[in-house]
Amino acid sequence: MEKEKNIKIHETAFVTSTFRSFDENLSHDNFAKLWQNPTTEQWIKEYLEQVSSEETYTHCLRNRYFLDRIKDLLNNEEIEVLINFGSGFSMYPFLLDEKLINIEIDKPEIVDYKKTKIIDWQKENLLPKRNIHFIGVDFSENYEEDLLSKIQSIKANKPSFILVEGVLFFLDREETDNLFNFFNIIQKSGDYIGSASFQETLKETHAFRNLLSFFNQKVSKTNENDYQTIQDDYYKSKKNYKLIDHQDYFSLSKKYGNKIKQSEELILNENFYLLKKI
Ligand SMILES: C[S@@+](CC[C@H](N)C(=O)[O-])C[C@H]1O[C@@H](n2cnc3c(N)ncnc32)[C@H](O)[C@@H]1O
Repeated sequence: MEKEKNIKIHETAFVTSTFRSFDENLSHDNFAKLWQNPTTEQWIKEYLEQVSSEETYTHCLRNRYFLDRIKDLLNNEEIEVLINFGSGFSMYPFLLDEKLINIEIDKPEIVDYKKTKIIDWQKENLLPKRNIHFIGVDFSENYEEDLLSKIQSIKANKPSFILVEGVLFFLDREETDNLFNFFNIIQKSGDYIGSASFQETLKETHAFRNLLSFFNQKVSKTNENDYQTIQDDYYKSKKNYKLIDHQDYFSLSKKYGNKIKQSEELILNENFYLLKKI
C-alpha cells in the first residue's frame, strides 16, 4: 500500500517535468525530457484530454518565468544559493550557471531517486556537473530544527532564492504557514521567494472539476477542500517581505508570446509571486 502511494507521488513530479519537455522553446528546459517514460506519457495523454489541454503551456511558462527571474538575479549577483522546496524532478541547476549553489528539498524517496538518476546521466554526459545538495524532508512532519542546521551548513550567510512551485496546492494552511515562517528564519534582507499557487476562483472552473474527478479516478478519493488555494492577500501581508511581482498564465502568455488556445473555464490558471525580504 505504502509503495503504491510512493509511486503515485513520483508521478506528479514526472508529469510536471514531461510537460516542460513538450515545448522547449517556451519552457527553455532542454533537460526535462530525460524524465520521459511510457507510464507518464499515458497519464499525460489522458490528463490533457480529460482535464485541460492547456496544461502543457501552463507548465512550460511557469518554468520559464522562474528560470528567467533566477537567471537575472544570479547575473546581477543578487543571489548565490537556490533552495527549491518540493523540487520534484525540475532541472533548474542544469539550466543555470554552474556557480550557483543548489539545495533541493523533497520527500526522501523523491530526492534519493533524483540523485541516482542525475549521477547516472552525468556519467553518460547527458547532464553537466553542478553543485547540488539533496535533502529529504516531509513538510507535514516536524522538520524545522534538523533542516535549519543542514541548510545553514551549506548556505551560511549567502543570499538566497527560495522556490516553492507545484507544492502548496497539496499542503494545508498550517503546513504552508510553517514553511513561510521557516523561510523567514533562513533568509536575510534582500533575499527572494518565488511561489506558485492557485486562487479560490479556480474552484469554480470546469477545468478544476475535471481535475478533481481525474484525481479521484487515478490517485485517491479527495474533495475540493483537499486542495489549497491562496489569495493575493496572503503574500501582500507577509511580515518582512514585499511582493515585487505577480503574474499568472494570462500575463505570462502575453509576455512570452504564447497563444492561448482554450477558454478561461478550461484553463487551470496558476498565479506566480515574487517576494523580496525587507
Ligand atoms: C507537482 S510536483 C512539482 C515539483 C517541482 N516543484 C516542479 O515544479 O517541477 C509536487 C512536488 O511536491 C512534493 N511534495 C508534496 N507534498 C510534500 C510534502 N508534504 N513534503 C515534501 N514534499 C512534498 C512532491 O513530492 C512533488 O515532488
